[in-house]
Amino acid sequence: MTPPPQLRRGRPLVARGASALAIVALAVTTAAAIPAQAAGSTLQEAAAQSGRYFGTAIAAGRLSDSTYSTIANREFNMITAENEMKMDATEPNQNQFNYSQGDRILNWAKQNGKQVRGHALAWYSQQPEWMKRMEGPSLRSAMVNHVTQVATHYKGQIYAWDVVNEAFADGSSGGRRDSNLERTGSDWIEVAFRAARAADPGAILCYNDYNIDDWSHAKTQGVYRMVRDFKQRGVPIDCVGLQSHFNPQSPVPANYQTTIESFAALGVDVQITELDIEGSGSAQAENFRKVTQACLNVARCTGITVWGVRDTDSWRASGTPLLFDGNGNKKQAYTSVLNTLNAASPTTPPPTTPPPTTPPPTTPPPTTPPPTTPPPTTPPPVTGSCSAALTIANAWPGGYQGTVTVTAGSSSLNGWRVTLPGDVSTNNVWNGVVSGNVVSNAPYNGSVGAGQSTTFGFIGQGSAPSGATLTCG
Ligand code: XIL
Repeated sequence: MTPPPQLRRGRPLVARGASALAIVALAVTTAAAIPAQAAGSTLQEAAAQSGRYFGTAIAAGRLSDSTYSTIANREFNMITAENEMKMDATEPNQNQFNYSQGDRILNWAKQNGKQVRGHALAWYSQQPEWMKRMEGPSLRSAMVNHVTQVATHYKGQIYAWDVVNEAFADGSSGGRRDSNLERTGSDWIEVAFRAARAADPGAILCYNDYNIDDWSHAKTQGVYRMVRDFKQRGVPIDCVGLQSHFNPQSPVPANYQTTIESFAALGVDVQITELDIEGSGSAQAENFRKVTQACLNVARCTGITVWGVRDTDSWRASGTPLLFDGNGNKKQAYTSVLNTLNAASPTTPPPTTPPPTTPPPTTPPPTTPPPTTPPPTTPPPVTGSCSAALTIANAWPGGYQGTVTVTAGSSSLNGWRVTLPGDVSTNNVWNGVVSGNVVSNAPYNGSVGAGQSTTFGFIGQGSAPSGATLTCG
């Protein structure tokens, strides 16, 4: 896959401005002492000094409130639509997309020079009514279509997408949450990530969840294992979002920084995406300080977003969990965050380009034996005969989702290779490895018993081929 432009996949733009200025300042003051760093007087300025962003969730309906929009504009440089880019808002009827509210937020952000986090492409919650009623392959197709359409609409304008939100179960299982999406097959998450990457290759792609802040919790470990597996298998994931909704029942864990460090060590950015902490006064301020400091302590924790502007704007208003009170006054928690950001070291390492999402061929996935797997350009030898049939699972203007069923003949297969029609152009294949127009088996689905089948999927550009002939073997 073509590496996305570093400018949009590295540090937030503000950060580069700040670090570039720092380099210039150093260059011209060789003899003189380096001047003390001026403290940022807003959250965005203070965060930018260490190359980070500071964001908020915005509700389109509140933008006409001038107290609200004044604070939002002054303090924050990363904007998340609180509800307006969710599935129910953007696709209220199947294949009828409505971007009016999402675009209001995007345009407000752009007019005010801010970047945007997209939230969220695929989620068990806040689904439109038609989707709630769906299951199985038709839901899978509808999900892929939704991800593709929405990410394409906003292509080039989103700093990071929450591609999949809240897919893991609470409690001690460490496994997935049951949902209609999960019941389409547990590969739905990687399929969503691949569709998002194909649609907007420049966006940072995040998995986002709550209660994954405590490193010792089973849910955190479950998400960690998934991200590690995705990195090992080349599923395009760039980031983990810690929602970080805290209250007395779910306090800021003592090992929060360990969690951030551990995810970052997998080669992904970590973003704190929906921070709010119930409470008041100095106790609340201290909790906000801890969260801010933990992020500052990890180079790949690239920014913090709070989930609303004033306490009265919060989805949990009774818990007064934000940085401004209902009148728009700065709370103790605000000062604590600002001072913590200002105390951070101004010299952050230059933007880190995420490592390629396809691991080198010498890194086999955990379930396969070591490096006998040749690189994708030299597919494995194929034994036995097979046939392949293409069905179009879904189609939309400009693209389609194909499913190919590979069936073994009278003897079993030890690897397979399917040649797609010449007019098929895809770099987005799951359950298979693509090279040009040839798709060969993934490490885990090459063995197919006599008469048995396996499938792979792909996103095609243009119109779907009709009556396509595929060769297998
Ligand atoms: C919340 C919004 O803040 C509310 O306005 C809405 O009624 C429900 O959703 N996790 C998420 C967010 O990812 O999208 C949720 O936002 C809060 C929890």
